[in-house]
Amino acid sequence: MTAAPIVWTETYSVGIRELDEAHRRLIDLVNVLLTSDGSGNLGMSVQDLLMQTLAHFAFEEAYLNSRYSPITSRHQAEHIRLFAELQVICQRLLKEDGRRLDEAMAAFLRHWMVSHIMAHDKRDSRIMAKAS
Ligand SMILES: [Fe+2]
Ligand SMILES: [Fe+2]
Repeated sequence: MTAAPIVWTETYSVGIRELDEAHRRLIDLVNVLLTSDGSGNLGMSVQDLLMQTLAHFAFEEAYLNSRYSPITSRHQAEHIRLFAELQVICQRLLKEDGRRLDEAMAAFLRHWMVSHIMAHDKRDSRIMAKAS
């Protein structure tokens, strides 16, 4: 199955340009998987998403830590949990060769990044921006 892509809206903005740009790039990578009909190079897209996600989490933590105050341990724990979950979904997708993006996978891919941005990135960015 293919699923509708995520459309970026200003409600997803955390108010920090560098982080917004990184989030938009990650959403683009998620959209490649969501809209894949299985004919492209799925392995490459999955690798890309995993590597970019890992890099983003590290960048975001370092960015918030250096410019504001230490990132909350809950936020950091959420990065670790999300990445582990993403790895499982990506492995399942690769096993299925991209032909069977089932609803659970699509739902996870659709919501993991956006929910994380709304629940953690936005809150920490605001708290930190206020405190600076
Ligand atoms: Fe985050
Ligand atoms: Fe983020």
